[in-house]
Amino acid sequence: MHLPSFLWLWKIAAWSMGLSIVAYLFLAVTGFWMWRVRNGEDVPDFWLGNWDTLRVWRSLHYTIGISMVSLVLLLLAIGIVGTLGHFGSLGHSSHLWAGLAVVGLVFISAFSATQINSQRPWVRTLHITVNIILFFGFTWVSLTGWSVVQKYLP
Ligand code: HEM
Ligand code: HEM
Repeated sequence: MHLPSFLWLWKIAAWSMGLSIVAYLFLAVTGFWMWRVRNGEDVPDFWLGNWDTLRVWRSLHYTIGISMVSLVLLLLAIGIVGTLGHFGSLGHSSHLWAGLAVVGLVFISAFSATQINSQRPWVRTLHITVNIILFFGFTWVSLTGWSVVQKYLP
């Protein structure tokens, strides 16, 4: 396989990562507003934050969350297919561990989200904590991805 023929694949990876980060930021904002509404704190009218619109925020948050999970799975598939196609084996840099860590964190986050309810308030704390760690995971996977993609550039 000639190196430049792989470039398009890593371009998709870079764009998907950009979209994932945008999704993460939207999730952080919608999650933060849900939290404020639930705690009875003031939310500017502009954000339409009240008990009636909480449902809307929640479904928006959920939809964006599912999109982010899909993007991360796409990235995992691209990474594995691309690496196997090029080297025939996995494990060529710490990017593998960064990638697996991100996939794991995103799964814990999404699964914990489905378990949040008033009987188990600690699950919400878990969801939020995992997502804060995910920020560093995203940083790690982006930096290592940026670094390994250099060897495919013409
Ligand atoms: C992995 C994809 C995600 C899914 C499927 C998801 C879904 C959910 C769901 C269903 C809730 C419960 C809302 C409720 O019933 O109270 C929730 C809460 C929350 N999420 Fe996410 N979420 C995701 C990612 C994120 C991310 C990346 C962040 C922050 C960066 C975040 C921040 C929050 C916060 C702060 C709450 C608590 C809201 C409250 O206190 O009422 N979520 N999420
Ligand atoms: C959530 C995001 C990502 C995940 C889960 C992920 C996952 C993976 C995995 C599992 C591999 C196989 C690594 C190995 O076996 O050594 C890989 C390889 C690779 N990924 Fe990613 N990746 C992500 C983001 C990115 C980004 C943003 C880029 C940059 C464009 C990128 C570029 C690459 C490249 C160039 C390889 C080939 C590795 C090599 O040649 O050593 N990845 N990815």
